[in-house]
Amino acid sequence: MLGCAMSALYDPKVQAVLERLFAANALQEDSAPALPQGFSYETSSPQERADAMSAVYMPISKQGGQLLYSLVRSSRPEAIVEFGTSFGISTIYLACALVDSGKGHIFGTELSAAKAKAAHRNLLEAGLADKVTILQGDALETLTNVLGPIGLALLDGWKDMNLAVLKLLEPRLAAGALIIADDSSFETMTDYLHYVRDRTNGYVSVSFPVADGMEISCRTGG
Ligand SMILES: C[S@@+](CC[C@H](N)C(=O)[O-])C[C@H]1O[C@@H](n2cnc3c(N)ncnc32)[C@H](O)[C@@H]1O
Repeated sequence: MLGCAMSALYDPKVQAVLERLFAANALQEDSAPALPQGFSYETSSPQERADAMSAVYMPISKQGGQLLYSLVRSSRPEAIVEFGTSFGISTIYLACALVDSGKGHIFGTELSAAKAKAAHRNLLEAGLADKVTILQGDALETLTNVLGPIGLALLDGWKDMNLAVLKLLEPRLAAGALIIADDSSFETMTDYLHYVRDRTNGYVSVSFPVADGMEISCRTGG
């Protein structure tokens, strides 16, 4: 019987980094990280939120990561955009799928300078840094110059910015591109969900029941 090739996801280096990051996140969730006194999510700017939460992981779930891996493997995109890299957990799943596909590159973006640096270190440690360019800054600026066609995008930054980021990317989306938005059950996703679920906007969209929900939207036209 022929052996089956093992995914890059199960490389011991990758597993060690993922385990360390998920363990740190679990500790953090147990202790509820302290935010600056007087901080209000609703009234602060995107940069103020990113600075206040520069140590907070907020990662996708392990199952969400496995789903991302599978979507990338099956769709084989050349260019992936990730809005909201944080410490790089989702990026690691995306990058492993690119290693196993043998093609493609990720353009991640992160508003917190500290997180962008940490994510790069984590990707280096996992042996995946050559698959990813992390653009530090506001997605609405950093993603303007990423060349299309974009085959897959993960939207996992501040939820109230999803729609603006999607509209920025739209002219560069490949026909059949997949847009995955994490946390589809959040109230702050309402505008975004209305948009991608309105068939006149050019998507076929479904909510996938993993963790807090992932909305998977397929771009129907080019
Ligand atoms: C939910 S976390 C991302 C988690 C990450 N995808 C993972 O699985 O580990 C959201 C991140 O988006 C970043 N972010 C929010 N708004 C942004 C923006 N406009 N541009 C770039 N990054 C942004 C935040 O700083 C935060 O680190």
